[in-house]
Amino acid sequence: MMSLRFFLLLLFQLSVSGILAINNEDPTDKTMEDFSGYPIHAPIDYSFAAPNTLLSFLSVDSTALENQIDELSTFSDTPAPSVTRILYTEKDVLARRYVKNLMGLSGLSVREDAVGNIFGRWDGYEPDLAPVATGSHIDAIPYSGKYDGVVGVLGAIEAINVLKRSGFKPKRSLEVVLFTSEEPTRFGIGCLGSRLLAGSKALAEALKTTVDAQNISFLEAARSAGYAKEQDDISTVFLKEGSYSAFLELHIEQGPILEAEGLSIGIVTAIAAPASLKVDFEGNGGHAGAVLMPNRNDAGLAAAELALDVEKHVLGSGSIDTVGTVGILELHPGAINSIPSKSHVEIDTRDIDEKRRNDVIEKIHQSATTIASKRGVRLSEFKIVNQDPPALSDKSVIEAMEATLKELNLTHKLMISRAYHDSLFMARVSPMGMLFIPCYKGYSHKPEEYASSHNIGNGVKVLALTLAKLSLNQ
Ligand code: GLV
Ligand code: MN
Ligand code: MN
Repeated sequence: MMSLRFFLLLLFQLSVSGILAINNEDPTDKTMEDFSGYPIHAPIDYSFAAPNTLLSFLSVDSTALENQIDELSTFSDTPAPSVTRILYTEKDVLARRYVKNLMGLSGLSVREDAVGNIFGRWDGYEPDLAPVATGSHIDAIPYSGKYDGVVGVLGAIEAINVLKRSGFKPKRSLEVVLFTSEEPTRFGIGCLGSRLLAGSKALAEALKTTVDAQNISFLEAARSAGYAKEQDDISTVFLKEGSYSAFLELHIEQGPILEAEGLSIGIVTAIAAPASLKVDFEGNGGHAGAVLMPNRNDAGLAAAELALDVEKHVLGSGSIDTVGTVGILELHPGAINSIPSKSHVEIDTRDIDEKRRNDVIEKIHQSATTIASKRGVRLSEFKIVNQDPPALSDKSVIEAMEATLKELNLTHKLMISRAYHDSLFMARVSPMGMLFIPCYKGYSHKPEEYASSHNIGNGVKVLALTLAKLSLNQ
């Protein structure tokens, strides 16, 4: 089959043959500017080519990608089809090794930072310019699926392969990033790696003393996985101002809209504002038979009542965009015949409207205080773990994606992301964009999560072409 490079050179010669001679530029570079469409002196006319000809030149190796997704899913602490991959565990380390190996096979130069964010770089022909980055995460919450995050990491490596196979040469370097711990499972904080890359001093400080549920410290866990070797100070991870000229993340939608509307791609315009809270109650405990009901200070019931109040306040916001979840509720000592003396509740609440979300947090706090005094238990902790603002995608990245979609003749819609992503934090240090692909019934964070090879392939094509455009930007 005629290579894309050859095809475009031919196109180039047919349409703009004079320009090469005048500019005296490297014909490969010039061709690739026109291939990616950015910067464009005159739009390339693909119309004479057979329908979908261009698509066939951008060949995604969907079989290989599907196999890689399947293989990565085997690094799991729970049986298939579920995936459980927790930060710095043996399975996480093996999965990271697998990804680093793929990066190497794609000719990327691989480096890791002190918390295990992994970077695979393809040097551009102007390597001093800030690179364009793309990536996502591979950690997986307990009993989840194999596509969340993974599509944006393995898909990004395949996007690099697509561009390499086509003969493209990036001007700005292209960098694939695997972010450490997008999921909050082990240390209770989401987007740990990207939050640090975005320069969170509070997190860098907090991690010096953070421990997991087994009382293993963050630093000890990181060291067991081969990171944070000689330092306790992980602020070395912070990205310098202007490290990236653009950041773009490919992800499954995790919602039902694209599939229901039969659309190929979602362009994310904004990411909703997430927050998480930890609440502890302490009561007297006691014997389940001997202590009469009027004499109890049941910390478990305080937690149960708070969970119901979370739902009440969220629904009371009056907006469908406000959501709240009690995903963790633990009782101590956890015996059927013992009144809980301690309870622990973790609450996730989000909204596209930050103020409305903060009002809900305030109401949850009031409820916790009232419930504690009513039930004679102590509110021993009410901690706002994170209370992040929403993030907006950058117009330039959205426009680059829109131009790509037009060229590839793919349907799309602009949409918000209700889930959070590493892009929420990358937006603080770089112009950011995200693209969604449909997933089956919008299922996510459960084993039934599924995205078709066809949809993943579309996502990879859009990612590849958009990265190419962004890499050629001034
Ligand atoms: C990310 O996994 C989220 O909870 O939105
Ligand atoms: Mn997730
Ligand atoms: Mn994710």
